[in-house]
Amino acid sequence: MERVLAPLGRRLADVTGRRALGAYFVLSVLDEDGPRPQAGQFYMLAAAERWGGGEDERPFLPRAFSVARAHADGTLDFMLEDVGPGTRRLAELRAGDGVWLLGPLGRPFAPPRDGRHPLLVGGGVGTAPLVILRDEMGPGAEVVLGFRDAPHAEGAALLPGATVATDDGSVGHHGLVTELIPLDQHLEVYACGPPPMLEAVRALCAEHGVPAQLALESGMACGFGACFGCVVPTRDGYVRLCVDGPVLDASSLEAVHD
Ligand SMILES: Cc1cc2nc3c(=O)[nH]c(=O)nc-3n(C[C@H](O)[C@H](O)[C@H](O)COP(=O)(O)OP(=O)(O)OC[C@H]3O[C@@H](n4cnc5c(N)ncnc54)[C@H](O)[C@@H]3O)c2cc1C
Ligand code: FES
Repeated sequence: MERVLAPLGRRLADVTGRRALGAYFVLSVLDEDGPRPQAGQFYMLAAAERWGGGEDERPFLPRAFSVARAHADGTLDFMLEDVGPGTRRLAELRAGDGVWLLGPLGRPFAPPRDGRHPLLVGGGVGTAPLVILRDEMGPGAEVVLGFRDAPHAEGAALLPGATVATDDGSVGHHGLVTELIPLDQHLEVYACGPPPMLEAVRALCAEHGVPAQLALESGMACGFGACFGCVVPTRDGYVRLCVDGPVLDASSLEAVHD
């Protein structure tokens, strides 16, 4: 499948908005001159100021984020969770601040094979790439999402009509998102979430002969194949997740590792 390639070099873009979404936040960046990304692709982001180089500026390397939505005017939305210094710095940005971005990077999701019905399965901030995927597929694509608790479940607002599960039962089904997967032979599963969830999805789909495409994560230093920091094991050996993924066919994996 043809994929959209990033222009060479990072470019400076303006933050146009930042809004809270329960335990997450959505950062909007105007990338007027960049190509339109495909669902499953990601960008390396770094704040233009206070991003490394001295005391209190620890972020240093850019961080990888799935594009959650691409608007017609070139605005890109990212759904972020504050988990450390890089995401915390990005959470401080406001409209008018600058962001260095590099992308779109990586291999996107592929269309469903053999006329199968897509089922989108997300866990936590893994909801992000499913938003643009459903924008591409249309409202007919069914979505099931799992979150820790009610503040995290607010992330489901980006995918109206999604069926939600929470670990603590505070919203929707009390249990795991994998319990919401109908084992229909005509499905193709598209999943993104934490490794244990992806491994459960992979194993379930393998057991029932359902094809699946998994958007994985690994630590990424460059995002374009140079550092080999992001390698993951597949049945054919190690691959660099930034150029050969982040979307991998579940059948290529023995297991999804933490
Ligand atoms: C292709 C790709 C797409 C991603 N999309 C999103 C997204 O849409 N929204 C979002 O919030 N995050 C996303 N991430 C994860 C995001 O890149 C990391 O959370 C971020 O780099 C953390 O940086 P930090 O400095 O805030 O925290 P750090 O201090 O670097 O990390 C905080 C914690 O998260 C762990 N961690 C850091 N990076 C990763 C990683 N890549 N995979 C697993 N654990 C990690 C660390 O071990 C640590 O426990 C994505 C990662 C990849 C590779
Ligand atoms: S992030 Fe550097 S090779 Fe993949």
